[in-house]
Amino acid sequence: MCGIVGIVGDRAVSERLVDALKRLEYRGYDSAGVATIHDGKLERRRAEGKLVNLETRLQAEPLAGNIGIAHTRWATHGAPTENNAHPHFTDGVAVVHNGIIENFSEIKDELGGAGATFKTQTDTEVVAQLLAKYRRDGLGYREAMQAMLRRVTGAYALAVIFEDAPDTIMAARSGPPLAVGYGKGEMFLGSDAIALSPFTNEITYLIDGDWAVLNRDGVEILDHDGNRVERPRQVSVAAAYMVDKGNHKHFMEKEIYEQPEVISRALGHYVDLIENRIDLEAVSIDFAKVQSLAISACGTAYLAGLIGKYWFERYARLPVEADVASEFRYRDIPLSPQSAALFISQSGETADTLASLRYCKDEGLQIGAVVNVRESTIARESDAVFPIMAGPEIGVASTKAFTCQLAVLAALAIGAGRARGTVSRQEEERLVRHLTEMPRIMSSVLNSIQPKMESLARELSKCRDVLYLGRGTSYPLAMEGALKLKEISYIHAEGYAAGELKHGPIALIDENMPVIVIAPHDRFFEKTVSNMQEVAARGGRIIFITDEKGAAASKLETMSTIVLPVVDEIIAPMIFSLPIQLLAYHTAVFMGTDVDQPRNLAKSVTVE
Ligand code: F6R
Repeated sequence: MCGIVGIVGDRAVSERLVDALKRLEYRGYDSAGVATIHDGKLERRRAEGKLVNLETRLQAEPLAGNIGIAHTRWATHGAPTENNAHPHFTDGVAVVHNGIIENFSEIKDELGGAGATFKTQTDTEVVAQLLAKYRRDGLGYREAMQAMLRRVTGAYALAVIFEDAPDTIMAARSGPPLAVGYGKGEMFLGSDAIALSPFTNEITYLIDGDWAVLNRDGVEILDHDGNRVERPRQVSVAAAYMVDKGNHKHFMEKEIYEQPEVISRALGHYVDLIENRIDLEAVSIDFAKVQSLAISACGTAYLAGLIGKYWFERYARLPVEADVASEFRYRDIPLSPQSAALFISQSGETADTLASLRYCKDEGLQIGAVVNVRESTIARESDAVFPIMAGPEIGVASTKAFTCQLAVLAALAIGAGRARGTVSRQEEERLVRHLTEMPRIMSSVLNSIQPKMESLARELSKCRDVLYLGRGTSYPLAMEGALKLKEISYIHAEGYAAGELKHGPIALIDENMPVIVIAPHDRFFEKTVSNMQEVAARGGRIIFITDEKGAAASKLETMSTIVLPVVDEIIAPMIFSLPIQLLAYHTAVFMGTDVDQPRNLAKSVTVE
């Protein structure tokens, strides 16, 4: 949520700040802005909408200066207008902020009562106003920063520059991530290592409660009480990743087609290909001793967790609680220290997931993180890290991270089953063989279904509402299909357990409502076909996503049938993800939406 960046350097910064913002645009793209100090004067340019608008503004009105801060916004408080865009300015102070200042309204009343005039509807402006007030009260810029940090509550990554301190950037972290980057005669600040990758791969992550003073020669990091502290300096791998679309029209399309390759890489980490077994060293939680498992995540990652629940219960005979992190963290769940908890997150920064993790940690559980970004806060705070190795996912709608999360969860569930003696050696080998066949099957499915998905998407783009149905692991997949469609095409969609249809949603069925049924020929197939009959009997139009056996067995008339190869149950969710991703993608393309950056969303959600 919001990306921030700063440079204190020996040459012009504004173009480089915008370059870094481009890598952070996935965090929000409602508006953007840059502030620099030049000839002792603070100046800024801001623009509503995508970063390209800010670039146009800067071309018309360039900003000079060797020090600056910049921001790309995902609006929380105040509409996404230019006026509410960061940096916020007050009396020689400029501030960019990621997070939420929770006591902003109390501070606003207090400062307003003392004569301050607020120009924006944002929570962030109180930071600038407080700093300005403390400076007017006679505090130096460091003291003002410390006093401000004592006064505000909530979540923040902050970067601040003062007109009368033209060689210094101040930074602070409480919640959202913030990394300091080391250059030669220059220092950098950014929301993540990817933003800093054009400048440096040497970084230090601030930890919660830290604040920092950066100048050209280095950084001084301080704790809440103002004591100097040391934080590890590390070499980031972010710079090694290529972040371009290749020959694809959108990042989302590229990421869909990358799946065979990245899944193969992920599996390589968890599977002993010679023995056809799970590499137990990679499964670094002692599942044999665990009495139950809690899974917590948000959005698509949560739906991957729900599928994982089916696998852990089935293969490891382990009771699993799975919940969305925003509920999990406040449910006062009685948890036993003999339990383990898994947190699934592409970004590794999602605020609700992180809060659930900290809750479980306080309860003494073993903590495992299934993450894509290995340097993330969730990874750093976990006992065991299970990387999904999907590479940077730029499209806001998650695709390759979802299937890689699934592949890793499948490997962990089988490994847990082996450790608990519920999966025999023979069964393990059989399951692992299916997992390792998956990249090849994915490639052939991706190559064969594209034209059909495009023509179907044309039909879907005319609809107002769509229902997705599935049973077993196809039920969370139905929810994922609906989530993918609604977030990028803005068509209303819901995913239901096929058996739940008759308990309410069946009232929606008519000839205008396409019903997408996900039903491989598994042990639930007959039951799902009965639910399809109920849809057909009410004039509903069925899009049937099945396999060769399922297509041969079903005699129902459908609007369209997508036929995939017959695969084992353990890999079906990954294979059946492909048509639902492509369907959502092509529908959005037909509708002309901004596929990679759909409205109102952000890739990394670091607020509650
Ligand atoms: C949907 C999507 C979101 C994320 C969710 C969690 O396509 O991408 O629902 O899955 O915001 O994000 P992470 O995985 O970064 O914790």
